[in-house]
Amino acid sequence: MFAWKQSPSCIALLALPLALFALATVVFYPRDFGLPLTFTSCGSSSSSAGGISAAPVQPEFRLLVGIITRPEYYERRHLLRMVYSLQQSDNNFAAHVDVRFVFCNLSTEEQAVFVALEIMCYDDIIILNCTENMDNGKTYNYFSSLPTLFDGDAKYDYVMKTDDDAFFRLPSLIESLRDKPRSDVYYGLQMPCDKENFFPFPPFMSGMGYILSWDLVEWIATSETAREDTTGPEDMWTGRWLNMAGRASNRFDNAPAMYDYRGTSPATCFRHDFVPETIAVHHLIDNARWTDALTYFNFTKGLKSSKQYHIP
Ligand SMILES: *[C@@H]1O[C@H](CO)[C@@H](O)[C@H](O)[C@H]1NC(C)=O
Ligand SMILES: *[C@@H]1O[C@H](CO)[C@@H](O)[C@H](O)[C@H]1NC(C)=O
Ligand SMILES: *[C@@H]1O[C@H](CO)[C@@H](O)[C@H](O)[C@H]1NC(C)=O
Repeated sequence: MFAWKQSPSCIALLALPLALFALATVVFYPRDFGLPLTFTSCGSSSSSAGGISAAPVQPEFRLLVGIITRPEYYERRHLLRMVYSLQQSDNNFAAHVDVRFVFCNLSTEEQAVFVALEIMCYDDIIILNCTENMDNGKTYNYFSSLPTLFDGDAKYDYVMKTDDDAFFRLPSLIESLRDKPRSDVYYGLQMPCDKENFFPFPPFMSGMGYILSWDLVEWIATSETAREDTTGPEDMWTGRWLNMAGRASNRFDNAPAMYDYRGTSPATCFRHDFVPETIAVHHLIDNARWTDALTYFNFTKGLKSSKQYHIP
């Protein structure tokens, strides 16, 4: 997770006009954005919220991506929505992917109005019954709520927990999941990633983003081991429950394709320079790092030329 340096009200002031402008632009000129048609009318999409779903007729698997964030991070959600919906605009995935933002109870009137607007437009938000926290059971709350929240809907094969400072390249992720089993799966960047690092409860998948198969999500929802042991570093604790219960026999460690942004820090087994085969980069804590990442991955190369703007 990361903390904004600006005050929430400052972000709201910045983000609301931006978001409204972006929304109006996308609503009225969807084709210019190359977005799926589900995006054409704010609020009219059904399960494929805001066009953030690619929906082949017979997907090989269904993945729920839950981005754990906080209600007031409007600007980051705006960026993440673009980053994920643009990756799905090709619409040629083998998988069905739903991206959802996940947070605890709203705490201000401003959030009640702004978040309600987002839900009406994008329908991609899950609000858990908890008060905001990072290592005090939010991840447990997330996983254990899902079987009830999606009761009766088409089940997901996989569920991801990730953060709002992580960038997943969906095509690489989906390609790497295609040949994996669909049950007893725990997928991510395994920690510790070298023998020198000591963690009290190894091994576990880094909180930057890890995937559980649906059977393990259902197990967490009913497990006393998990329910009685929710307070601690969230990623380590998920690994701890699975280790204690002897679950997750299918573990997939994606080093070096999943890693932390390096910047000027020394390279390690979990932090290094960008590589072409990247599945995910973590610690994109500010716009400068997102700029670096999106530039490296040629994210805006598809921009069409027009007399109406000039971008270097
Ligand atoms: C939400 O959590 C509170 C406090 O833990 C609890 O009292 C309440 O019953 C919960 N509400 C729902 C709808 O689950
Ligand atoms: C969250 O909000 C709901 C609805 O306002 C309330 O019933 C619940 O007690 C709250 N839960 C917590 C843990 O604050
Ligand atoms: C980005 O584009 C350049 C120039 O076309 C290419 O050499 C490079 O491999 C691309 N990078 C990635 C990560 O695809």
